Amino acid sequence: MSWTKVLAVDSLPMDSRQVVKTGNHNLLLLNHNGQFYAVKNSCPHLKISLKKAKITEDGALVCPMHRSAFDLKTGAVKEWTPWPPLVGKAMGMISQEKALSVFPVKTEEGSIWVDLTDS
Ligand code: FES
Repeated sequence: MSWTKVLAVDSLPMDSRQVVKTGNHNLLLLNHNGQFYAVKNSCPHLKISLKKAKITEDGALVCPMHRSAFDLKTGAVKEWTPWPPLVGKAMGMISQEKALSVFPVKTEEGSIWVDLTDS
């Protein structure tokens, strides 16, 4: 494990998000319903920022561009480029379906820590 301190817990209130750069990593930190998550701030499709991604009731992070949906806990693809209709599927063929990178998170000593070991 390679835990890296990324942000004070107080800096990420309930249902907020923040982009944090640490080393070579561009992370999106989220506080969703009081649970912290850290994901790569880059959609696996065309690498755009996920800062404005919506979170669905079933815990998927949805890219604002072509609405690919990724499980917030695992990064698994739930849906790949469904938007806009017809064109979205063609856009999806530009790059192969790929999971979103998610990182283990813990809080300790008033800070949020992210394990960047496998990145
Ligand atoms: S850029 Fe995210 S789904 Fe296309």
